[in-house]
Amino acid sequence: MITTSPTPGTASPAAGSPADAIGTSAAQTRSAELEKLIQEDPGRFRVLTGDRPTGRLHVGHYFGTLHNRVRLQDLGVDLFVIIADYQVLTDRDVADDLTGHVEELMLDHLAIGVDPSRSTIFTHSAVPALNQLLLPFLSLVSVAELSRNPTVKDEIAHSRQSSVSGLMFTYPAHQAADILFCKANLVPVGQDQLPHLELTRTLARRFNDRYGNGGPVFPEPDALLSDAPLLLGTDGTKMSKSRGNAIALAADADETAALIRRARTDSDRHITYDPATRPEVSSLLLLAALCQGGTPQQIADGIGSAGAAALKKTVTEAVNEYLAPIRARRARYAQDRGHLRRILREGNERARDVADTTLGEVRRAMKSDY
Ligand code: TRP
Repeated sequence: MITTSPTPGTASPAAGSPADAIGTSAAQTRSAELEKLIQEDPGRFRVLTGDRPTGRLHVGHYFGTLHNRVRLQDLGVDLFVIIADYQVLTDRDVADDLTGHVEELMLDHLAIGVDPSRSTIFTHSAVPALNQLLLPFLSLVSVAELSRNPTVKDEIAHSRQSSVSGLMFTYPAHQAADILFCKANLVPVGQDQLPHLELTRTLARRFNDRYGNGGPVFPEPDALLSDAPLLLGTDGTKMSKSRGNAIALAADADETAALIRRARTDSDRHITYDPATRPEVSSLLLLAALCQGGTPQQIADGIGSAGAAALKKTVTEAVNEYLAPIRARRARYAQDRGHLRRILREGNERARDVADTTLGEVRRAMKSDY
């Protein structure tokens, strides 16, 4: 049984502690440098990123991370997107319809402009050589190190499961395999994923130190932190599908309007952008600004004293207009499941080729290429 409370001597900085802030600001400085390098020479970079297939993605995901994937792809970076289907096996609701969940995630990516002729979308379960990397990686990390991972600790604390599976406990090492199988050197992440990236770098280093006599096998990938603004759900809490407060990319214009109509605001008719004291109103202004351009302040000035109803009308129009082409593209892809499956099969094949090559190098380095 794995305990979720920190044991003496293994405590790690909790989110928001000074130590965490230092780690984050170093990552932010590095990210700014990386942005420059990407602009200069995008061909130097291979990005791996991805998601668990837990449902349709929403505007929070879009402005937080998805948009950035397409931006990198369009700059000329080699983009790999993993659908982490082996990370959701313990979630019964997802596991009961894994194919459906994987297809939804693919549709969202294709809808926003991930281009399967330039980028590779694939699933864990279809790439055996990727998964095989997990075994040597697990030999290079201690149970104490795995127990210290603050993100896993947090997920365990909030999990609905009565016990912690081995899969849950080891998934950061699996995630290292996701990243290193294709020798990605850049991983766009949110702050919660920084501990996993740190482990990935550690595993790359340890593997190279131990087995890399003929030269390092793995790069030590960098985190690319985005400065994406945080959007709240329509009830003013964290945007999340399970809370019913998220505008899904796949939602239609009427559903979007209904959700925004019910959104929480406050009693001050004069609309101003002030995230600290008016989080709900400010998040709506931010969403409108992200969709239609300009700053949240400018949008607030345009509404003035016209009140929450006018604000909601502006937001609804901005979101629906922005998402219209994305939704149209999503609907086109959704009509042809055969085509969708072919895209996934091709992505999986490409990922398998890359993984087989890497595993070959790993086995040679480990002298187990019998
Ligand atoms: N753990 C990530 C999440 O829950 C998903 C993921 C799996 C991932 N493998 C990855 C993210 C590799 C970045 C790189 O969101």
